[in-house]
Amino acid sequence: ARLDARNTFGVAARAPMLVEVSDPAALPELAGYAMLRAPEVLVLGGGSNLLLASDPPGAVLALETRAITRLGEDGDAVIVRADAGVVWHDFVLWTLGQGLAGLENLALIPGTVGAAPIQNIGAYGVEVRESVRTVEAFDRTTGTFVRLAAADCAFAYRDSLFKQQPDRYLVTAVEFALSRAFQPRLGYAGIAEELRAMGVDAAPRASQVAEAVIRIRRRKLPDPAVLGNAGSFFKNPIVPAAQADALLAAHPGMPVFRGAGDDSRKLSAAWLIDQCGWKGHRDGDAGVSAEHALVLVNHGQASGLQLLELARRIAASVQARFGVAIEPEPRIVGARW
Ligand code: EPU
Repeated sequence: ARLDARNTFGVAARAPMLVEVSDPAALPELAGYAMLRAPEVLVLGGGSNLLLASDPPGAVLALETRAITRLGEDGDAVIVRADAGVVWHDFVLWTLGQGLAGLENLALIPGTVGAAPIQNIGAYGVEVRESVRTVEAFDRTTGTFVRLAAADCAFAYRDSLFKQQPDRYLVTAVEFALSRAFQPRLGYAGIAEELRAMGVDAAPRASQVAEAVIRIRRRKLPDPAVLGNAGSFFKNPIVPAAQADALLAAHPGMPVFRGAGDDSRKLSAAWLIDQCGWKGHRDGDAGVSAEHALVLVNHGQASGLQLLELARRIAASVQARFGVAIEPEPRIVGARW
C-alpha cells in the first residue's frame, strides 16, 4: 500500500499491508494475527507528525472511526467524546458550532483526534491536555482496552505516555471537558493584534479567536496540501536558566520563555535555526520554509532520508553555534535520530 498521501510531508513510501479499522471492537481479534502483533506495526493518524525515513517494514494500521458524541455535563463542563479517526480541525469547528469553548486556540492543527493526546498538541498558549478528560486506548501488550484519566497520561510539552511507549497504546477515542462559558486565552504574542486587525475588540467570541488563529497559521505555516511539511520539525529546547541567561547576555535579542519550573527556560528553536541562516534553505527538494525556520518542507520529490539529513545538519549547526541540542518533534520511522 502506498503511504504518499498518508504522510503530510508527501514522502514516497509503501507498506506491505494497510489495515483500515472501522470498528475498534475488532482490535483484540486483529491483535491475534502475527503480522499485527509484531512490534513494527505502525499506527497512522493523519500522518502529520511523522517522517518516513524508510518504508515501514510491517503493517500499517489506521483507525477510520468518525463519531462525535455529546455525553453530558459535569458541573460547568460539557463532556464530548470523539473517535480517534475524526479530523482534528473538523472537531474544533464542531465544538465551536455547539457553543463549546476550550479548543479555539488549537484550530487548524493538522492530524486527527487520536493523535492529539499523543504529542499533547499545543499552540498559542494552550495545550490539548487542558481539555482532555480521558483517553481510551487499546493496549497492545495486554490485548485489552484501557481508559486513562488525563492525570495518568504523563502529559508534558509535546509529550505523553503514548508518545513514550509508541508501540504499546493505540488511541481509540478521546473524551474532552469543554466549557459553555468562554474565557479567552489571548496571552500569546500575536492573537490580540490579529483580533484587532479583524476589527474585533473587547470581548471576542471563541469562534473569533479560532478565526484569528487560523489567519495567523495560514500566514506563517505552509499548508501541507500545497507544500509537504509536518509543522514544527523541532521542539523548543528546554535548558537550565543559567544557560539561558548566558546565551541572552551574548545574544540580547534572543526570545526566552518560561520552562517547566523555575530553574528551566524554553528557547525558540525557530530563532536559533533562523540565526544559523537556514530559513528558505534548500538541498534539492528538501528545504526549510521561507516563512518559518522551524518547518522543514518537501518541495516535491524529497525522500524521508534527505529530510532527515537536512534536519541533522540544522541541529548540528545550532549545537555548534549555541551549544544547544534541539530534538525532532515528529516521530521518525525507519531511522534513529
Ligand atoms: N522566529 C524566528 N524565525 C522564524 C520563526 C519564528 O526567529 O522563522 C521567532 C519568532 O520571532 C518568535 C519565536 O521564534 O519570537 C516563536 O515563534 P512562533 O510564535 O511561530 O512559535 P514557535 O515556538 O516557533 C510554537 C509551536 C507551534 C505553534 C506555535 C504557536 C513548538 C515546537 N512549536 O512554535 O506548533 O503553532 O508555537 O503557538 O512548540 C507544531 O507543533 O507543529 C507547531 C506548529
